[in-house]
Amino acid sequence: MSKPSPTNAPTRVGLIGFGCVGQGLYDILQRHPEAGFTVARIAVKNPTKLRPLPAERFEFHADDLLNDPTLDLLVEVIDDADEAFRLVSQALRQGRRVVTANKAMVARHLPELIALQRAFGGVLLYEAAVCGSIPVIRTIDSYFAQEPLVQVSGIFNGSSNYVLTRMREDHSDYAEALAEAQAQGFAETDPTLDMAAFDPRSKAVILAAHACGLLLDPDDVLNLGIENVSAADIRYAAERGQKLKVVASLQPLPGGGATVYVTPQLVDADSPLYAVEREFNGVVVEAEFAGQHFWRGRGAGGHPTGSAVLADLVALRHGFRYAYAKLPLEAPQAAEAPDLELEVYLRSAPAELRRALGLTDVSEQLSAPGFTYDYAVGYVRLGQLHRYRDALRAGGTFVARTGRVRPVVAQPAPQLETALAAS
Ligand SMILES: NC(=O)c1ccc[n+]([C@@H]2O[C@H](COP(=O)([O-])OP(=O)(O)OC[C@H]3O[C@@H](n4cnc5c(N)ncnc54)[C@H](OP(=O)(O)O)[C@@H]3O)[C@@H](O)[C@H]2O)c1
Repeated sequence: MSKPSPTNAPTRVGLIGFGCVGQGLYDILQRHPEAGFTVARIAVKNPTKLRPLPAERFEFHADDLLNDPTLDLLVEVIDDADEAFRLVSQALRQGRRVVTANKAMVARHLPELIALQRAFGGVLLYEAAVCGSIPVIRTIDSYFAQEPLVQVSGIFNGSSNYVLTRMREDHSDYAEALAEAQAQGFAETDPTLDMAAFDPRSKAVILAAHACGLLLDPDDVLNLGIENVSAADIRYAAERGQKLKVVASLQPLPGGGATVYVTPQLVDADSPLYAVEREFNGVVVEAEFAGQHFWRGRGAGGHPTGSAVLADLVALRHGFRYAYAKLPLEAPQAAEAPDLELEVYLRSAPAELRRALGLTDVSEQLSAPGFTYDYAVGYVRLGQLHRYRDALRAGGTFVARTGRVRPVVAQPAPQLETALAAS
């Protein structure tokens, strides 16, 4: 660990939030005093909660920490995205240096957060918000600041990866594997954010700013999850020597813009992501000159996430800030990405929905009266998947990309209403 010079007093940290991440960071800093940080003040929410430290260490008004000029750095690790945005934006307005782990907040408000840093001179770092301890943001932002990236992809959510791994290992169903993940602490009581791929979508949106120079509205990015996955889908993959993984994909386009989506994907054995199992995350960065890089690591948990927060604290002490080198200063939004056709495995899609999606070039299909397992493999426009995402989720349909992508063959996209009328 980097040591402060002997003449320097420890850097005073104001810690807002003392849950899984806050305690993980606190423990790391206690174990390594030579790192030169002291947690000077801790703000939490609930005054009656039992704590692992003496009661006098805690206070209940985070704004008091913002207003304390003796605190050198602030760490925001609370579980309330709206309040986190209020606190972080207020701190940036005061020109302060802040670390956050809140991916939902950063993904939703990145344009304002960047503008506040530029206007008031504060700094915000958020390595812990994407894939925990895997140092992907800073590497893409700094090391690959100038080199064009061909693709960034990865498994950005450990909870859904754990469920998929257990389903394959145990030949169990989704509900069973999810219950086990929840019992092991790898999945939240409300699993929607993780299983429906909202969480990895936030991470993809954050990476898009650094990797593609694109500030995306999370709602504009397709996210399909695994709530409808079945043992039959896992078997389908296994019979072909593949595994099902929820894969985020960011592909910068040569003329500006990028295509970004997060969906289940049938992953081949020669992909580095194939071996990323259980709660682990994996990131593949493919750069024009450096070629392919791959990281596998822990995407969550007190210590791994605390490790990323510590790395940001050290970086702040050294005067680091993100370069956002690929982000245009004046015109923040790059050109809109053209639509693409993705080859997908589509299981249990009602006939009208399948027509509405406009599945073409079907290369494989199985459907027989009386069978509950029916599927087809064919091409679908990315825009149509996005448009009917909620219908797919509600209808019990499972969709996985095969990984094959092609430009759209020009023809108007079908409408659900038209398809329904035709059925
Ligand atoms: N857990 C992970 O592995 C992980 C990984 C990557 C990123 N993150 C992100 O890190 C953040 C924290 O996650 P976590 O798992 O540590 O959450 P957590 O265990 O639920 O803890 C949340 C903490 O925030 C405090 N808090 C909530 N509202 C507050 C407020 N208005 N003022 C002050 N404190 C407040 C809570 O106070 P009380 O103690 O009084 O309830 C609690 O100490 C989230 O944004 C999460 O998405 C977590």
